[in-house]
Amino acid sequence: MKRSEFLKLASAGTAFLYSGSLLSKANQPDPELSKELFGSAFHWGVSTASHQIEGAWNVDGKGENIWDRFEMMKGKIKDHSTGQIACDFYHQFDNDLDLLKSLNFKDFRFSLSWSRLLPDGTGRINDKGVDFYNRVIDKCLRIGIEPWITLYHWDLPQLLEDKGGWTNRDIIGWFAEYTDFCVQKFGDRVRNWIVLNEPAAFTTLGYLIGMHAPGHRGINKFLASVHHAMLCQAEGGRIIRSHLPDAHIGTALSCSYVEPKKQLPRHERAAKRIDVILNRLYIEPTLGMGYPKKDLPFLEKMERFIQPGDEERLKFDFDFIGLQNYFRVISRPGIIPYIRATKVKPDKEKSELTEMGWEVWPKGIYMSIKQYAKYPIKEIIITENGAAFPDELQGESVHDTQRCNYFKDYLKSVLKAKCEGINVTGYFLWTFMDNFEWSYGYKPRFGIVYNDFETQKRTIKDSGLWFRNFLK
Ligand code: NOJ
Repeated sequence: MKRSEFLKLASAGTAFLYSGSLLSKANQPDPELSKELFGSAFHWGVSTASHQIEGAWNVDGKGENIWDRFEMMKGKIKDHSTGQIACDFYHQFDNDLDLLKSLNFKDFRFSLSWSRLLPDGTGRINDKGVDFYNRVIDKCLRIGIEPWITLYHWDLPQLLEDKGGWTNRDIIGWFAEYTDFCVQKFGDRVRNWIVLNEPAAFTTLGYLIGMHAPGHRGINKFLASVHHAMLCQAEGGRIIRSHLPDAHIGTALSCSYVEPKKQLPRHERAAKRIDVILNRLYIEPTLGMGYPKKDLPFLEKMERFIQPGDEERLKFDFDFIGLQNYFRVISRPGIIPYIRATKVKPDKEKSELTEMGWEVWPKGIYMSIKQYAKYPIKEIIITENGAAFPDELQGESVHDTQRCNYFKDYLKSVLKAKCEGINVTGYFLWTFMDNFEWSYGYKPRFGIVYNDFETQKRTIKDSGLWFRNFLK
């Protein structure tokens, strides 16, 4: 046998040993990474969200939510799709959780659909919705997967939106009732709770620029929704704690490291303003630091929504902060009203971009962790990190080399922060399987499992195989 042929065979053989199927180079083990380096108590999971995976939008008594409504409006979703079927997780969860288990993940983060449980937002209970989540939780526990519940991942009951949604201060009471209900129903088996998912995203995209449901635009709507979301964030934490003193309670924030384009005072001030609107606004009130008005003066307008005693009610001592990182932001002075700064588009020539146009820059997650570690936070858990690339199904395989490399590089950055002594205790990738990517529809595929949306057939991508080996 020729030497070159031998080498080819030998490397194919090694790959075969690693996965039980032939692997491309990208998903072979990386000598600098092993799960042991993260410690035995580290949580390895995937994150998902109800509206993005469940489907069954009008089945078994589920009420309408703001996305069900928004998707029906012309031009709101890029590929004109809806989340009505999505991954049909509502019917397929049993096999899906077995699949997750087969990839050696031990933690599963999912959100509860408020309108599946309380179709009108408050009051009337939908027992079939409760049954569904009981079955999901019980299945997880049966197969040795730890469930992590997110209470709110953007799918507000439409009937509450009809009363003003997040702009109506009554949402504190509505959310308290919902939280109380969920904790009473599921708290006997679920220890890990995440109150909100990315309040920065649902307030900015949903109430300031109208790109997400419910599609509102306006500075007052935005400021009201931020203040009420921050009050609910803390209130939710308190309610969980009052029922479950031993619960592990967090909230998940979108965290992007912001850099000025140039080292000039004007640019630095602009970066500071963007940093407030993306990061500081959602963590500092919780920590009892109030709103960062000094660095973004228009936040003074928030005053009109603040009532006596609110400053105290904004605080909650979370056990962990969920850090979700996708990109860094390079900013410069600009004309966006109020913020007077703008984002600089990443340069296609110089950087690798994901299908969302987001720059692949692994150092960014490290910088973000460092930034948040400066606050008095007990634990940081990466509750989302991942990338969409144009995947292609080839027979029974998806060779998503870019995603394999992405995860390896981002994990190295997380490890670096951990090795420097920061208490990072978990990594949940986004996401388990390709799903409904909000206003982008189904085109961007973020999963480590490929989903054929016509047949609902799942195919493990190379990145999924990589994790299966890594977590073995
Ligand atoms: C953050 C959100 O929580 C999630 O729902 C979304 O799909 C990912 N980012 C990717 O855009």
